[in-house]
Amino acid sequence: MTETYRASASDGVAWVTGASSGIGRGTCIELARRGYTVIATARRMPDLETLVAEASGLAGRIVPAIGDVTDSAGILALVESIEQQHGEIVLCFLNAGIYFPLRAAPFDADGFRKTFDVNVYGVINCLSAILPKMTARKRGQLAFNASVAGYGGLPRAGAYSGSKAALIAMAESLKFDTDLLGITLQVVNPGFVETPLTALNDHPMPFLMKLDEASRRICDGFEKGGFEITFPRRFAFILKALNMLPYSAYFAVVAKMTGWDSTNASKP
Ligand SMILES: NC(=O)c1ccc[n+]([C@@H]2O[C@H](COP(=O)([O-])OP(=O)(O)OC[C@H]3O[C@@H](n4cnc5c(N)ncnc54)[C@H](OP(=O)(O)O)[C@@H]3O)[C@@H](O)[C@H]2O)c1
Repeated sequence: MTETYRASASDGVAWVTGASSGIGRGTCIELARRGYTVIATARRMPDLETLVAEASGLAGRIVPAIGDVTDSAGILALVESIEQQHGEIVLCFLNAGIYFPLRAAPFDADGFRKTFDVNVYGVINCLSAILPKMTARKRGQLAFNASVAGYGGLPRAGAYSGSKAALIAMAESLKFDTDLLGITLQVVNPGFVETPLTALNDHPMPFLMKLDEASRRICDGFEKGGFEITFPRRFAFILKALNMLPYSAYFAVVAKMTGWDSTNASKP
């Protein structure tokens, strides 16, 4: 299949969800540095306002826009208003996501639902607002922020790994269509990046990457094209290779890597 469209700041604006902190915030700054007008969406306006200030003096600019990705009607209206006020969205980074540890016991169905609502249905809500527009124009560049945690199930991540695996498979499947529609679809699979989300982790985080570096890699990936943007490459390769092992070996190696043993049964 052929590569289709590659966005540029002269073609239109970029839209980033989950822009108030972490990877979304870093990517907004990097895109503004590369000349884009970036519409930065999240629920916390004060954090979006400090982001706007942080970007002053860059080649492009950041425009804050409140939006909850779980509110399908709100996202539909938001995309309409972005395009009316700022023009065509040519680059769209669907990044908003949440993680909190979940276990088999006690089983927290609400926690699973909440994770899928933001991480999977949040992306679906945004797609249903933006894809018809890109399809009609026969151009656009879209990226989902999944995770290397979506390559296979990790301890305490039943909802998170499950939601990210769903995003990767959705992107793989949709790409067959988007290639024919003139739309470039990419999946971003970061390893561990220093953000407020990972600050809460109490387990080892091999190859932990600084936010600035991760944001640069993501924007380089947008410019370069190719389906998957993943980093650090060595970590991603190790996790991909693990998932090619027979399950008996997979569970043993992941348990060892993450320090998972029978003592975890009694821990939260
Ligand atoms: N950090 C990592 O190591 C890592 C690795 C792989 C993948 N990822 C993925 O990268 C993405 C960003 O993670 P991060 O580490 O940057 O986390 P973060 O700092 O916690 O940022 C999460 C962002 O998502 C937004 N968000 C959460 N719920 C939302 C909702 N319902 N509607 C709109 N926005 C919402 C938050 O903004 P508001 O609260 O203001 O709405 C915030 O801006 C996630 O999809 C995550 O799974 C992270």
